[in-house]
Amino acid sequence: MAAQPLLFTALQIAEVTLPNRIVISPMCQYSAEDGVVNDWHFAHLSSFAMGGAGLIFCEASAVSEEGRITHGDAGIWTAEQAAAWRRITDFISGQGAVPAIQIGHAGRKASMQRPWYGNGPLGEADTARGDLAWPILGPSDLAMDDGWLVPTAMDGDDISRVTRAFAEAAKRSLDAGFQALEIHGAHGYLIQSFLSPISNRRNDGYGGDRSGRMRLALEVTETVREAWPAELPLFFRVSSVDGIEGGWELDDSVVLARELKERGVDVIDCSSGGNSPQGATNAPGKRGPGFQVPYAAAIREQTGLMTQAVGLILSAEQAEDVLQSGAADLVAIGREALHDPFWPRHAAEALGCDPEFDGWPHQYGWWLTRRARALKTMGL
Ligand SMILES: Cc1cc2nc3c(=O)[nH]c(=O)nc-3n(C[C@H](O)[C@H](O)[C@H](O)COP(=O)(O)O)c2cc1C
Repeated sequence: MAAQPLLFTALQIAEVTLPNRIVISPMCQYSAEDGVVNDWHFAHLSSFAMGGAGLIFCEASAVSEEGRITHGDAGIWTAEQAAAWRRITDFISGQGAVPAIQIGHAGRKASMQRPWYGNGPLGEADTARGDLAWPILGPSDLAMDDGWLVPTAMDGDDISRVTRAFAEAAKRSLDAGFQALEIHGAHGYLIQSFLSPISNRRNDGYGGDRSGRMRLALEVTETVREAWPAELPLFFRVSSVDGIEGGWELDDSVVLARELKERGVDVIDCSSGGNSPQGATNAPGKRGPGFQVPYAAAIREQTGLMTQAVGLILSAEQAEDVLQSGAADLVAIGREALHDPFWPRHAAEALGCDPEFDGWPHQYGWWLTRRARALKTMGL
């Protein structure tokens, strides 16, 4: 009998056991109202639980109102927002998957249009729609691009307030039923904008050399780790590289990951880019299947930390190769899951692990077994 694929082998992180190593990458839906998630989020995320992913990241949820990317972002800065997540986390857990949340602050990329309205800074058409721009924060008073809002360079009080907001958000995430939490430290949002010399031009203790630029990321992680139970996994998403000359590089990510490890981070989620107006999924440059996997491999090898690979991981075989090669401990899918929420179940089929549809929800599996038999009889 063929060996059990790694993709479908359980993995323990801290005290939580994932049933397999397929992760749904966090994906904003820009469809919340006042940060409160609704039926759309329930249907969207429930489909991934039915689809068999082991760990399901709910979208980047803002730790404060000004930290939203768009008016439609989910939030976790109020008890009402936390309560709205509960129905979703209960369903995910009920299907045997682990519900996870990504918490973040958009920094100088706050106050943007929802993607389908332009994906740029809010303008007149958005104002007419009722989506008004709001004042934004960043490490320095440097706009993302021409025509974008100029952030206010954060002072010490702003930094303490936002750091506390991350810790409060972590506590609320626990109340909401999440069992894993990720700090969003990537894609040009607040934490990454402090890390990168492209966006951080400060000359106080939160800027300057790499250790100054890392300080916010490390302080946020310390306070979140204190607020988030030790037995529950803590992930940190990095932009492994800015991909812009003079920007944050892979060596910097390795150094950061070592510091994060000392502060109790369990997994580094290895994305890249985003510190430019194009965003992380649209950034220019050559990309192909698994283009970010080498970052996960380097960080894993040089830090001994678990890593999560993400970005154009398309097939079951490719995902299995990523794990077999030792590049990562987990593979995350984003757009593939939008295209096929049942991607994990189909991957199991492709790798020959679930010929009798035993892993499927029984409401579906019972029928699919019979469908398979009927198709076989028909020679199809
Ligand atoms: C609709 C959508 C929303 C996204 N929202 C987030 C987010 O909330 N947080 C984040 O870190 N990345 C976000 N991303 C990036 C994905 O998590 C993922 O890293 C990226 O899509 C690459 O993986 P893929 O090639 O499998 O789609 C988003 C991507 C998409 C397509």
